[in-house]
Amino acid sequence: MSSSVRSDTALDLGSATIIRDEDRTNPVAVRFEHVRKTYKLFKNDRQRLIASFTDRVKYDTINASDDLTFTCGRGEALAFLGDNGAGKSTALKMITGVCFPTSGTIEVHGRVSALLELSAGFDMRLSGMENVQMRCQLWGLSEEESKELIPQIVEFSELGKYIDQPMRTYSSGMRARLGFAFASSIKPDILVVDEALSVGDRKFSAKCQQRVSDIMANENVTVLFVTHSTAQARKFCTRGIVLDHGRTMFEGTIDEAVDFYEAT
Ligand SMILES: Nc1ncnc2c1ncn2[C@@H]1O[C@H](COP(=O)(O)OP(=O)(O)OP(=O)(O)O)[C@@H](O)[C@H]1O
Ligand SMILES: [Mg+2]
Repeated sequence: MSSSVRSDTALDLGSATIIRDEDRTNPVAVRFEHVRKTYKLFKNDRQRLIASFTDRVKYDTINASDDLTFTCGRGEALAFLGDNGAGKSTALKMITGVCFPTSGTIEVHGRVSALLELSAGFDMRLSGMENVQMRCQLWGLSEEESKELIPQIVEFSELGKYIDQPMRTYSSGMRARLGFAFASSIKPDILVVDEALSVGDRKFSAKCQQRVSDIMANENVTVLFVTHSTAQARKFCTRGIVLDHGRTMFEGTIDEAVDFYEAT
């Protein structure tokens, strides 16, 4: 889904702090300091429900992010590498605000657009067009900017006359297409990509890859990129972080990081 926080915010969540602003002159785009995200694992949903009323229910915990510290500079393209469950998506979701850290500090300077969970956040009762118009407003675009951008979004999505149909009539691929078309069209300061490059069928997926590489080629855009394809990481990114069980195992140039990951 795409996410944006338009106002300067410093959110204090107990022992976690989140600082967001739109200062694109800050040489730091994203900074994590000692970030931990702990999930509670209950035996079943019933136990989870009971736990919201009492603290006597037993549960295990897992650190999806564990003492994560890194800085992503303005204009940098940073890849997160790691096996399934290593904590890559969790890190990205905390940048977009989809989930919150348990402790530590996260700073995000600039407007974030995310190519992850592309179908999320649409109102299925509204048409594709109405959803796009609403998102443009939420993103803070002026009427003129929206007027220019909306036809480009619609054209990229290739939805044809379906753009005026309620989104509940769309296939999941069609929803993802519209999500991708919007999130990749709005010229963010920070782009977060989580393996979103295989949207839709083969032809559309190739078009998405081209769009992402065009955005990444723009030096003003900061990119945080999660992929299992080390070839793509080498192609798009300058620096890499290898995660394992939520922890940083290695941080360095993209070639060093890929070599480290492939050797483990
Ligand atoms: N809502 C949740 N509740 C409990 N555990 C979760 C939740 N979301 C993620 N986790 C756990 O956190 C860990 C990290 O998950 P995450 O999705 O960040 O991994 P990932 O590196 O993106 O993996 P993949 O390569 O499979 O996408 C995993 O062990 C996962 O089971
Ligand atoms: Mg993931």
